Amino acid sequence: MMKKYIRYAILGMALILAACVPTDAWKPVAGGDNLTADPSWACTGWIGAANGVLDIGAGNEFRAYVNTYGPRLQAEGDFGVRVTLSADAANLAAFSLIGKPGLGNWWNETNKLDVGLEEGNVVVYFYDGKSFMPRVKQTFPAEGLSGQVTLELRRVGDKLVVRANGKEVGQLDDPGILPEGWAYFGASVRPNNTLHIHKLSVVAPPDNANVAIRTGSESAYTPTDPPLRDLADARGIYIGAAVEPQHLRCDPVYGEVLGREFNILVTENAFKFYAIHPEAERYTFEGADTVVAFAEAHKMKVRGHTLLWHQSMPAWIENAAFTPEQWEQAIHEHISTVVGRYKGRVAYWDVLNEAISDSAAGGPLRQTNWSTGLGPDFIDKAFTWAHEADPEALLFYNDYGAEGMGAKSDQVYALVKGLVERGIPIHGVGLQMHLTLGTAPKPEDVQRNIRRLGELGLQVHITEMDIRLPANASDDLFTAQANMYREYLKVCLAETNCTALVMWGFTDRYSWIPDANPGFDHALIFDKLYRPKPAYFALRDALTLPKSLGPEDFGASCNCKP
Ligand code: XIL
Repeated sequence: MMKKYIRYAILGMALILAACVPTDAWKPVAGGDNLTADPSWACTGWIGAANGVLDIGAGNEFRAYVNTYGPRLQAEGDFGVRVTLSADAANLAAFSLIGKPGLGNWWNETNKLDVGLEEGNVVVYFYDGKSFMPRVKQTFPAEGLSGQVTLELRRVGDKLVVRANGKEVGQLDDPGILPEGWAYFGASVRPNNTLHIHKLSVVAPPDNANVAIRTGSESAYTPTDPPLRDLADARGIYIGAAVEPQHLRCDPVYGEVLGREFNILVTENAFKFYAIHPEAERYTFEGADTVVAFAEAHKMKVRGHTLLWHQSMPAWIENAAFTPEQWEQAIHEHISTVVGRYKGRVAYWDVLNEAISDSAAGGPLRQTNWSTGLGPDFIDKAFTWAHEADPEALLFYNDYGAEGMGAKSDQVYALVKGLVERGIPIHGVGLQMHLTLGTAPKPEDVQRNIRRLGELGLQVHITEMDIRLPANASDDLFTAQANMYREYLKVCLAETNCTALVMWGFTDRYSWIPDANPGFDHALIFDKLYRPKPAYFALRDALTLPKSLGPEDFGASCNCKP
């Protein structure tokens, strides 16, 4: 009898104790316990991701990073993000939730919440995309914020609750942190500080099943038939896109679309001087190797872009004070090494990029310290050295604003005619075609230009085509863009010496346009989620149409300059 009472008493005490010890019912969601282990962090290029700890350094400027390769948080209702972090200095080091990545500048159009440590406090900043100043800033003093600290952000109803080391330190109204129901992770770090993220988890209360982790890039890609490359093969033309190696490594959909749709590719940056030969005694071939290997695995041709360009030069070339002999030695060695390494694997080289000056002053050629250093015959030498390194490769001169007829294309024509007449090994001209709707050359002018280059015995490639639209473009602009893509491809198909149409990327997700031309976007044929746009179907139309169209086919549907 007595024993029974004791038993009940013990049980009762245990229950009372359990009710008093605050247990935290919020638990990591499936796959969300240890997100620092996700392979995508190592892909970003700005993060040290060894041993499951993310080391995020700011260098000497403020850095706002976002890992767009994933993992992503997806949530309806209440959720939390629990981060164990430490920082090397007292200025801001924060983890970020990015509900919308910026366009151009990091803050422009973004939706971003930073939660971190700053001057011994917990801080919360919210950016709404309209200004580089935060719309919301809250500072919460707390104890024990040295060494490793576990910060947690919880959304509870319409409040954000901030906790440090398991205790609430403050609350604020949710300013709308997941505008589309999901967010990327990232970090914001002030100069000369380094943030270390030791653990990153997504948690949810037990009654909310609508919190999940998504990995891999966001995509809405569904393959359609026939792929452009099949049609292009049938027409005897190459159709392709500029490629960045890190997207091939980090975004599986990127490689899937590229390999399926195109039969040629060009390296967007990997062959540029600074990328492949950053120091006099050091070459970095990894990026170019990745791209060339991908092309070979998918039976695609490769354009090597570019051996010489006045931009994208490494400091050791840009600032060199060489004698003419040293210049000759350095550039010759560069060209022989790069072309030689990819002999038989890179079919076409842009030997020289953008050498014609845009201003009449100082003569037709741009003056750079390396062009002056090499002397007036540097162009002849560059083509000759490239030819010696791979006699089978076809060598191109590439430029912008010289697509139609006009002063600049006349300069290009004169330049390459001179090369041909002097017996210098040049085989083609690249027309870049970075266009806007309002400033596009007339298709019949492009055709005339291609034809006159053909009469010199030269091939033409359209090398960097993109047609940018205002970021807020309406549907009719997408149609006008599609018509332009169609018209220029028709021109290329109509001239036998026009053998490739290559775009400067293929998905708006990774286009250089929003960075280079703030306010513009949507320049390519797949959207940011890899959905084919009207421009994609316009290229397909052009490839399906019968051959031999004349100038009378152009104009009506083209939004071109009068
Ligand atoms: C651009 C790349 O797309 C950018 O990523 C890079 O930051 C700058 O260069 N003409 C060219 C290309 O020949 O090499 C340029 O590429 C775009 C303009």
